[in-house]
Amino acid sequence: MGTAATSSNIHSSVAEFIAARRPMLINGKWVEAVSGKTFPTYDPSTGEVLANVAEGDREDIDLAVKAARAAFDRGPWRRMTPSERGKLMWKLADLIDAHTQEFAELEALDNGKPMTVARAADVPLAAEMFRYMAGWATKIEGSTIPLSVPYTPGARYHAYTVREPIGVVGQIIPWNFPLLMAAWKLGPALATGCTIVLKPAEQTPLSALRLGELIVEAGFPEGVVNIVTGYGETAGAALAAHPDVDKIAFTGSTEVGKLIVHAAAGNLKKVTLELGGKSPNVILKDADLSTAIPGAASAIFFNQGQCCCAGSRLYVEQAVYDEVLEGISNEAKKIRVGPGMHPKTQLGPLVSDEQFKRVTGYIDAGFKEGARAATGGKQIGNKGYFVEPTVLVDTKANMKVVQEEIGGPVVTAMPFQDLDSLVPMANDSAYGLAAGIWTRDIAKAHQVAEELRAGTVWINCYNIFDAALPFGGYKQSGWGREMGEEALRLYTETKAVCARYA
Ligand code: NAI
Ligand code: MG
Repeated sequence: MGTAATSSNIHSSVAEFIAARRPMLINGKWVEAVSGKTFPTYDPSTGEVLANVAEGDREDIDLAVKAARAAFDRGPWRRMTPSERGKLMWKLADLIDAHTQEFAELEALDNGKPMTVARAADVPLAAEMFRYMAGWATKIEGSTIPLSVPYTPGARYHAYTVREPIGVVGQIIPWNFPLLMAAWKLGPALATGCTIVLKPAEQTPLSALRLGELIVEAGFPEGVVNIVTGYGETAGAALAAHPDVDKIAFTGSTEVGKLIVHAAAGNLKKVTLELGGKSPNVILKDADLSTAIPGAASAIFFNQGQCCCAGSRLYVEQAVYDEVLEGISNEAKKIRVGPGMHPKTQLGPLVSDEQFKRVTGYIDAGFKEGARAATGGKQIGNKGYFVEPTVLVDTKANMKVVQEEIGGPVVTAMPFQDLDSLVPMANDSAYGLAAGIWTRDIAKAHQVAEELRAGTVWINCYNIFDAALPFGGYKQSGWGREMGEEALRLYTETKAVCARYA
């Protein structure tokens, strides 16, 4: 473990940003909560308070929804050309790029992730998301449709569809990729011309608030993007239930996803969900193990294992099981664990005390059910939320650690005999978010890709994301897709217009 961040190695603008209590963005203004309350956000490498943030609740959500509604119905946003919308989004992307280091530090301090990783992945991916979606703003097209109406003989019609923005959108995001999740959500909503109330996770509100400043700087009209910070059970629940919100987009736990569906029933707002996962990662005996082994390690240990798509169930063909197990255990031991701000850190702390307790609780439950740690299994140090990269063996299909999402750097490694027995094992999950397959046999790769019930299948790679590539889940991993053209459909309503001309 390296030394913790000191104020001297924090960018001066970041130090200033966290020193002041952070208000929320409603109708283009930075405001305190109606209640005047604030809540703390913590540095997970120390457990100490990092900053204080306005604690939004029902009344604040209501004000934000009113602002978003007014901006949607009457604001200049409505009258802007798609090209003008795209230019604003592109400008925002450039602003994000210009503040890469700041964002990387905010993520490292607030979430705990390695600053170097945030700089190389989270921040540039967020900027690219806005650029990709900026291009779509001018390409949201309908179609012309020939009609054959039987009960108006001889009549002629010109019929077409228009794809209109769905309206006021509530977006609730998690703490694992705070800035990037904001970008995944805002990108398609802005491209299609919606207005937004965004609620960041209470564990990691800072980068979204900084993004809000750049949204104002870029020149988005007031009320188009509102950012309300606060807790899930209060602000989040109020947003999900709000009668004047047309759509709610949520990323987080499957448990809360189900609450969102219930809350949305009141006005039958549209719902998209990106939920948990327990993704199988499969290594066949003919795989190039020199890439499959580090690939499987990174599939689970990237972002402290706090990825909904983490390759948390590793299935290895019997003939190479021992070699892979030894290899991945060695990879796990090599990982440099430390505070996210330390430039050499590869794996940071878990995001919160709650997550730390959840992950260590799962490891203990695994041990009680008879699993064994080939490596790891323990807390590191006694300050902050550090957990050793852990490989569990002697696991059985029905164990909690094999069935449930752990959300930490914990992988179960299990051998399999052949593809026929593998596929049902890999699909034996309530989830279906992602999967990986490592092999040199292209036929087997595509065969397994076809049979796995998952929204993303990576072949000889893992955790590859692109703004153009749709992402989302089968089964209880969610509804709908994010990114790519698919995401845009879920932010538009289709209007059919039918005109008789003869
Ligand atoms: P969570 O689902 O409670 O939190 C995600 C977001 O939902 C946060 O913004 C939170 O404030 C909000 N929220 C919570 N309760 C709400 C409610 N009743 N109504 C509306 N919004 C609400 O996730 P949590 O508790 O932080 O983590 C629990 C587990 O969920 C993790 O261990 C992990 O396994 C999984 N998870 C999955 C994520 C993913 O990317 N799909 C992200 C975060 C967590
Ligand atoms: Mg929760």
